Amino acid sequence: MNILAALRARFAQSTPLGSDPASFAAAVRQASEPKFGDYQANGCMAIAKATKLNPRTVAEGVAKNVDLEPMASSPEIAGPGFLNVRIHDAWIGAQLQALILHNRLGLVEPALKKTVVVDFSSPNVAKPMHIGHVRSTVIGDSLARIYSALGHEVIRDNHLGDWGSQFGMIIWGWKNHRDESAYAADPVTELARLYRMIQAGIKPGETFAENYKKVLELDAQGKLIEADALLAKLPDGHAHTVESVRTQVAKSKAIADATRVETAKLHSGDLENRALWEQFMPHCLAALQGIYDRLGVKFDVQLGESFYDNMLADVVQELESRGLAVASEGATVIFTEGSNSPFLIRKRDGAFNYATSDLATIKYRKQTWNPDLLLYVVDHRQSDHFKQLFTAARSWGYDDMTLEHVAFGAILGNDRRPMKTRDGDVVGLESVLNDAVAAARTVIDTNSPDLDAEERARVAEIVGLGAIKYADLSQNRLSDYVFDLDKMVALNGNTGAYMQYAYARIRSIFRRGEIDPEALRASNPPLLITTPTERALALKILQLPEALELAAAELKPNVLTDYLFDLANKFSTFFEECPVLKAETPELRNSRLALGDLTARALKLGLSLLGIDVVERM
Ligand code: ARG
Repeated sequence: MNILAALRARFAQSTPLGSDPASFAAAVRQASEPKFGDYQANGCMAIAKATKLNPRTVAEGVAKNVDLEPMASSPEIAGPGFLNVRIHDAWIGAQLQALILHNRLGLVEPALKKTVVVDFSSPNVAKPMHIGHVRSTVIGDSLARIYSALGHEVIRDNHLGDWGSQFGMIIWGWKNHRDESAYAADPVTELARLYRMIQAGIKPGETFAENYKKVLELDAQGKLIEADALLAKLPDGHAHTVESVRTQVAKSKAIADATRVETAKLHSGDLENRALWEQFMPHCLAALQGIYDRLGVKFDVQLGESFYDNMLADVVQELESRGLAVASEGATVIFTEGSNSPFLIRKRDGAFNYATSDLATIKYRKQTWNPDLLLYVVDHRQSDHFKQLFTAARSWGYDDMTLEHVAFGAILGNDRRPMKTRDGDVVGLESVLNDAVAAARTVIDTNSPDLDAEERARVAEIVGLGAIKYADLSQNRLSDYVFDLDKMVALNGNTGAYMQYAYARIRSIFRRGEIDPEALRASNPPLLITTPTERALALKILQLPEALELAAAELKPNVLTDYLFDLANKFSTFFEECPVLKAETPELRNSRLALGDLTARALKLGLSLLGIDVVERM
């Protein structure tokens, strides 16, 4: 059960006449400090202000009316008009005892079951996954797990970028520079090599064109001497000549144009390019699958951009016929409210784009799953795209589902800039995972020398992957964070390894006492609240549903990690202060063992909703 929700319902019923029960209920919170009880109702001041009454009088009225039994007796009035609620110890004990036999730790079916589509991971295929893909994959996976644990219907969709310009690059690279024996030996590596090679062919010219724009303008006007003089003054300019800049720009542009032609041919059904695409795709997908398997990430569907290709013309036509999409300078656009630039849905050359396929995707998802909520777990740099997409979709009539861009910040290297390898490449995801596992292995080797090597390797894999996920999920997703492996695998602090360690530590208590947790649960011992630390831990365990509801409502897995960190710390204090195996009486011993067992179950469930496994020993 969700205590906060139950209290809110009671307070809503006792809202003073003429005031809004929903906002009064919303002002009920967990108490900010133990001296204010367990929960506080803070809405009396606002009501007093609106009705020109004394806030304490309002509070007294509510305190007299509200019935919180059997959870708590009537609230205590504090300060200018706060209402402090203290949950009965006996009720906490009884609830916890019931949880021992509840296999979902108090999570119940939602009153309103929602259908939620989570669009996440969604990498552009044909290039290896890199560190930047961690966030969408891990955050999306966690939100999907949280929503389904709360009893909602979840569809996990990997909206692959499998139709974009990167295929034009690879196809052109294949036609001109392929190494067939390398491809036969390892297709993905060869495709990645081609991709990087084309990028390397295009990039320098683009950079020159940007950095030396004025120089090139002067050159085009035939003012070679002025161009030379200007170039010498610009950063790195003396290392080049106007001619070398001009040649490089032309060379890059020629390659870029050629790859664009290949993309266009693919899209217009050219048989050769289509066949190449079909030949490359399974290899690209298999490489992605390897990473997903290792991370334990699953999808219900992987409907990439290519899937929507044959719907795009109709979508644009439908939008045109409704007068939503209009011609503009030869292209087709939608003018969306609140945005300066129009939303481009068909380019001047007739090509459809990212926006067109996202519009088709919305229509398809509505028809297929009729979702209540659609989450797009995508980098914050795409905020403008999603703002325009959602506005366009609403005016198109898709206004009865909630569309949310679950944005996130960047992962930074030690220099506080987006992470790069030493030679300037983006860091491949596979190698990041290997590094994390290696770092975890060092910690495990030091900490658990008594485990055999095979077991230490298994634990290191779980701890290393958990460390990466936890570090990511414990950030407020909107902020950037610095990738610091040593911190991530540390056994203390707010880390995955600390949570896993807390879990294993509880398991070791049971091993030491030779107690079978199943048998303990089956005996359903009464939970005795005899000290403040037991009470604090007990209440925390009961608050798991609250943490999950909040994480889901705010789309923030870090609400869950904060909860778990707090839970693990409360357990730690409890374990320091309260003897468990050596408790004074058998009843107290069983009660404390049960408290430990419930903590372990809450940690395990919470971690599983972050996509993180636990180990019995570490
Ligand atoms: N493939 C895109 C990228 O890598 C992300 C796609 C996100 N989902 C979507 N429906 N637009 O930038």
